[in-house]
Amino acid sequence: MRRKIIAGNWKMNKDHREGAILAKEIADGFAASRSSCEVVLFPPFTTLPAVMEAIRGSAVRAGAQDIYCEDEGAFTGEISGRMIRALGCTHVLVGHSERRHVIGEGGELLARKLRASLRNGLKPVFCVGELLEDREAARAFEVVTAQVRECCEGLEAEEFSRVVLAYEPVWAIGTGKTATTRDASDMHGIIRMLVKELFGTAAAERVPILYGGSVKPESAPDLLGDAEIDGLLVGGASLKSKSFLDIIPR
Ligand code: PGA
Repeated sequence: MRRKIIAGNWKMNKDHREGAILAKEIADGFAASRSSCEVVLFPPFTTLPAVMEAIRGSAVRAGAQDIYCEDEGAFTGEISGRMIRALGCTHVLVGHSERRHVIGEGGELLARKLRASLRNGLKPVFCVGELLEDREAARAFEVVTAQVRECCEGLEAEEFSRVVLAYEPVWAIGTGKTATTRDASDMHGIIRMLVKELFGTAAAERVPILYGGSVKPESAPDLLGDAEIDGLLVGGASLKSKSFLDIIPR
């Protein structure tokens, strides 16, 4: 059985003072719940040091929402995997749909970011997902598998063993529309088949595939009850400790 992972993507919310309070509430609530899940928080860059301090000594982990593909140098405004790792972070989001579709990052850059996270000892949570128009045109499987293939092909099996995948249909993010458990499960199954083709059976059985897109405490149990869904990437509902803690299964 793969251990369930519950991740909170705070996006561009919570300054360092607010973030410290939220992270402490989550760390305390998670400890009290005695849940066996893995919990990871993704605060904004400037909030990360305060969050690392707030979760110190707890089982909660944290990471950045993005990194640059180089480790240092003349890249004004960018933050490297090395800097994130130096804070004690364990994870990084790569290819979130807002990076792809709002900021305009493409597959080639994302593949380099994925490698930068691995090189720096960070676990990438690599996000994929189709637009509404892709789903309506029955192209969802094709688009998502192409995104996985583009970034993961050519990785060594050992490198891929540190990758977490997250399926987040773009039309479900922040819209209140969750994919049905069936739709998510079908997509996860297709992704797992591709992983088997690229890296073999053991890798396919091991890789955690999270679902994200308008997850709420009400929809979480059904999604988590599906054997193909190894965890959740939560946006809006991760901004309040109560709703986030309510999503974490005991
Ligand atoms: P949402 O965001 O839960 O607010 O839809 C999920 C995400 O973007 O990771």
